[in-house]
Amino acid sequence: MCMEQDQHITKESDLMERIVALCKRRGLIFPSSEIYGGINGFWDYGPLGVEIKRNIKEAWWRDIVQLREDVVGLDASIIMHPRVWDASGHLATFSDPMVDCLVTKKRFRTDQIEPLDGVALFFTGARDSLTPAVCNEPFSVLILPGKKPEDARQVARQFYSLRGLKDPVLLGESCCEVHGTVSYNPENGAQLTPSRQFNLMFKTTVGPVETEDNITYLRPETAQAIFVQFRNVLDTTRMKIPFGIAQIGKAFRNEINPRNYTFRSREFEQMELEYFIRPDEIVLKTQGQIDEQGGEEPRCNWGWKAWHKYWLKQRRRWYTSVGISQDDLEEYWQTKEELAHYAKATVDLLFRFPFGKQELEGIAARGDFDLTQHQNYSGKPLDYYDEVAKQRYVPHVIEPSAGVDRLLLAIVCSAYDEEELFSEEVGKKETRTVLRFHPSVAPYKCAVFPLLKNKPELVAKAREVFLSLRQFFPCYYDENGAIGRRYRRQDEIGTPMCITIDFETIEGSRLSGQRDTVTVRDRDTMQQRRVSIAELKDHIAEKLTVFPQRSSLR
Ligand code: GAP
Repeated sequence: MCMEQDQHITKESDLMERIVALCKRRGLIFPSSEIYGGINGFWDYGPLGVEIKRNIKEAWWRDIVQLREDVVGLDASIIMHPRVWDASGHLATFSDPMVDCLVTKKRFRTDQIEPLDGVALFFTGARDSLTPAVCNEPFSVLILPGKKPEDARQVARQFYSLRGLKDPVLLGESCCEVHGTVSYNPENGAQLTPSRQFNLMFKTTVGPVETEDNITYLRPETAQAIFVQFRNVLDTTRMKIPFGIAQIGKAFRNEINPRNYTFRSREFEQMELEYFIRPDEIVLKTQGQIDEQGGEEPRCNWGWKAWHKYWLKQRRRWYTSVGISQDDLEEYWQTKEELAHYAKATVDLLFRFPFGKQELEGIAARGDFDLTQHQNYSGKPLDYYDEVAKQRYVPHVIEPSAGVDRLLLAIVCSAYDEEELFSEEVGKKETRTVLRFHPSVAPYKCAVFPLLKNKPELVAKAREVFLSLRQFFPCYYDENGAIGRRYRRQDEIGTPMCITIDFETIEGSRLSGQRDTVTVRDRDTMQQRRVSIAELKDHIAEKLTVFPQRSSLR
């Protein structure tokens, strides 16, 4: 690895550490059950985190459901009939390859182990120096970079101790060069178990008696409930194809190796849309031709490829509205070999996280796989009568599927900024940490302060302004500490505007005599301007709606 790359990675991992620390310090994200030592892969959202999460979900719901006539919503139960997971293929195929370290028992996803080159020591077994016991199980250890053969032997002795030898003496040592191996624990060099498949669904039982018959699962995706309720939604809403059903809700996956903070969790939320379209042969029959390119405005002659591109565009556009710069997004079109068993095409929208470019959302063309499977397994018709084509068919589907937790992390990473400023209060340079949130996701849209806490007239006016603004915007009141410190506290949680009630508010301007004006400080420019209280609400509303789009901060 070259020096420059090395420094880049250190800088980015430092950045991630600072982001994690801020999220903890300011009540965005806490480890779940922290007082009991936490539980790997589970996270809680604190007072500010929960507001950001709600804002993300509301922005998505508004764009996908409320601003469209062709999409309706659903809120289904997390636990469903176990046959759902048989039909969907999750029972048979929703698994990752897994290996265990034979010494520490630590579990790894086989496909996430970096291939290693080196020399491995092999042992035919070990005997006990204190008793006649012998273990004839072969074992091997890779000598890790920077380690000595004796370190590897020590790992082998640990292995034979676990096999019951009190003081193992290693037998039949030999060595061999290995290349591109994934058979050893990258942390201690110990041999791993052979790779096996591990189903990621969490099992549970329904009812008071635990038997094989009442096993079911926490849903690993929200999508299946949409397919299962397709008939009910169709019958009760009289939607006509093309149309979509959207859902936001919890999903659970027993990830082998949760990592990168909340990025890969075991409990998370998804925002999924299943958008049902005509199969291409029906488009051809009714329109005489198929448009595969598509465009801005949907048309009757669009085939699935055009719809897939349309939803990709729609979803990219939406990310700007929650503060994700287009510069930080990248499309990755899955290869044929990578596609899930149900997909005809999938494009992943990747975000530039400090730990690398990773998937934020997948937009899949799922064909008619899911409805057909549920129709076959349930024996209930899940087809659609097309009045134009005058025939029944199983609709095809385009699925944009996004993770709320991943997006929240992306929003925080993309908003995080630090700048060096001269502080007059402290008389030296200070680092200002600021979350440059888009107002649509900021937990508070504004904060109100009296200049001084010990001046009752300032406090009374500030409370009056705060109580009136609170009717319109999520708003925070703070009277504690120096005014500069209060501004910094709001910068750190991304509040777009701070409103200060000072003596000029009460006594009037020395120049114009005008009373009832306040200062409004902009989080990003730190510039202040005076605004009359009567115009304050409109001023804030305008600033929030005409928020400038920005490019990546990194
Ligand atoms: N219904 C399709 C589906 O579930 P997916 O790519 O497995 O597709 C969709 O998941 C989105 O859900 C991902 O793009 C990601 O944002 C989120 N997601 C998936 N697994 C996750 C995990 N373990 N932790 C956090 N978010 C996850």
